[in-house]
Amino acid sequence: MAVREIIQVGNPVLRDRSIKVMRFDKTLTELVDDMIETMQDSNGVGLAAPQIGVLSRVIVVEMPDDEQYPHPGERFVLCNPKIVKASRETEIGEEGCLSVRGYVGQVERAVEVVISGQDIKGKKVRIKAHDFLARAFQHEIDHLNGVLYVDIAEENSVMTLEEYQELLQQEQEAGAEQTEPSIAV
Ligand code: CO
Repeated sequence: MAVREIIQVGNPVLRDRSIKVMRFDKTLTELVDDMIETMQDSNGVGLAAPQIGVLSRVIVVEMPDDEQYPHPGERFVLCNPKIVKASRETEIGEEGCLSVRGYVGQVERAVEVVISGQDIKGKKVRIKAHDFLARAFQHEIDHLNGVLYVDIAEENSVMTLEEYQELLQQEQEAGAEQTEPSIAV
């Protein structure tokens, strides 16, 4: 296991389409181990293989161990993930990305999705996800298609973390409700 370097926006690798996983072998296990370690090292809640330079359709998602999130503390490893159902209801929420360090933006996503894919052994799996977990899956699957959240974020919503913190503080002083803590996927 090793912490791998996370590729940053501007690198064309992040814009490629990843290739379907066909072999569920030791190489895949090692890739997943490295992805988990790399994600945890950066305190991320998700990572897609292209973010460490591997153009393979693999994602990992780990919810924070905090009751304000769905499935707290649970980890998901998915190969060849696909959104098979998405709710018509959407929500605009905060997103960051380990490949766009230091920034945060507002992105509209489906509130509920059903994801199909395969586990690390190739067994078919189907996951129903809502709220922040659904958001994380949509964000990671976008990575496999060369899409970054900054491409689809609400106009003028992407800002540095410092700017965002300032804005939150102003809102709090104005008596607005507190929003979710900043999280990078
Ligand atoms: Co990301």
